[in-house]
Amino acid sequence: MRIRDAIEMLADSGVEALGPTTWADLGCGGGAFTLALAAWLAAGSTIHAMDRDGAALRKIPSAYNGVRITTHRGDFTNPTGPFADLDGILMANSLHYVADQAAFIHACEARMTSRRHFLVVEYDTTEASRWLPYPVSQIRLTGLFERAGYSITVLRSRPSIYRRASLYAAVIAPSLNLCGACPDP
Ligand SMILES: C[S@@+](CC[C@H](N)C(=O)[O-])C[C@H]1O[C@@H](n2cnc3c(N)ncnc32)[C@H](O)[C@@H]1O
Repeated sequence: MRIRDAIEMLADSGVEALGPTTWADLGCGGGAFTLALAAWLAAGSTIHAMDRDGAALRKIPSAYNGVRITTHRGDFTNPTGPFADLDGILMANSLHYVADQAAFIHACEARMTSRRHFLVVEYDTTEASRWLPYPVSQIRLTGLFERAGYSITVLRSRPSIYRRASLYAAVIAPSLNLCGACPDP
């Protein structure tokens, strides 16, 4: 995807209002969405971009829009990955490679601060394939994250050539607990 289109997909996520933050882009590939995220983050932020494809990682610049980008070659499902204290995690077209997505979200939380924002870009389909082994439709994403105590806002949806499934972007943040007597989710 062109960077301009990736930037448009993440518009209105509100991440710039968080101030300088630290993010991971898991399964960043050649970095189209890494740069799109950098375009929206406050200057002084950091993105750890991770992929197992070293050639793709080499296409990613070390800074963009005042945001520092560090690349890491490795398996993003490895819980002993090279970063911690993340304010946010971006997964663009990569959550569908994770078999146990609920357990993975839980493992991600162990590496995150209390801000715990996620940005997810996925195909809105339930049809699995070799390229999309564990699809994450909007309904599935909503269920997954609501059960884990988050609120989901779908930002954009655009047609894609992949089996006519639309590509959507969503921002996910911890649900507000407005009940003083209730335990945190
Ligand atoms: C469809 S591409 C998406 C790339 C990029 N996020 C984008 O949207 O342009 C999926 C990427 O996830 C990476 N990937 C899949 N599973 C991975 C894993 N367990 N660890 C690291 N990278 C992984 C692949 O190498 C590939 O670059």
